[in-house]
Amino acid sequence: MISLDTCVQIALSAENRILGFDCGNDDLNEFFNEDAIKYQEQILGQTYFFRHLETKKIVCAFSLSPDSIKLTYLPNSRRKKIRELIPREKPLQTFPAFLIGRLGVALDLKGQGIGSQLLDFIKTFTLTEFPNLGRFLLLDAYNEPAVLNFYLKNKFNFVFSTEEQEREYYKRVNSDDPLRTRLMFCDMMLWKEKLTL
Ligand SMILES: CC(C)(COP(=O)(O)OP(=O)(O)OC[C@H]1O[C@@H](n2cnc3c(N)ncnc32)[C@H](O)[C@@H]1OP(=O)(O)O)[C@@H](O)C(=O)NCCC(=O)NCCS
Repeated sequence: MISLDTCVQIALSAENRILGFDCGNDDLNEFFNEDAIKYQEQILGQTYFFRHLETKKIVCAFSLSPDSIKLTYLPNSRRKKIRELIPREKPLQTFPAFLIGRLGVALDLKGQGIGSQLLDFIKTFTLTEFPNLGRFLLLDAYNEPAVLNFYLKNKFNFVFSTEEQEREYYKRVNSDDPLRTRLMFCDMMLWKEKLTL
């Protein structure tokens, strides 16, 4: 069982590339192995990866970029819920967030708790490296029960409580196709309180 403590975190760069990473998803593999560096060249987000110190194997990877939650786009019930999280006399309309654009764990290391360790790491990393800059973590989770459960288990919740509301937001009301992804968020205040206890 691998702990992220036995790995080094590396920021992707021209000198430190991701090669041969396989998380079992072709789109994500293509992103991490080929496209991530191009995203960085265009200032669209930063990718990081963890390399096991002993075996040098790439264990997991993720990308981050700034984002926000805009209340105007949310259904009333969700809007109210997010407002309640942040009591203010003059309610804000937009809340800063970090987007976990991509995330993957090496295929042969799945189900060993690495993904959950990685999410914990990202929560602490964003709070400490970019303090006070983003209240929420956001991500588009694959709309598959195992993946959604993985994020729910790690304290993420749906931005839109139902798929129908989310479909409306994407203006896909006339399509019967299931959504490919579900937008999920995590309130960083809870993690901040946990860190300072
Ligand atoms: C989803 C993913 C990041 C989870 O990482 P992980 O290291 O396997 O996660 P953990 O071991 O911490 O947690 C395992 C949980 O994730 C769920 N899970 C989701 N997809 C899984 C997969 N392909 N293999 C194993 N577990 C998976 C399991 O149901 C498990 O739940 P349980 O603990 O209740 O049994 C990883 O499976 C992965 O990289 N998948 C392919 C890429 C992907 O889907 N990325 C998410 C993009 S939104």
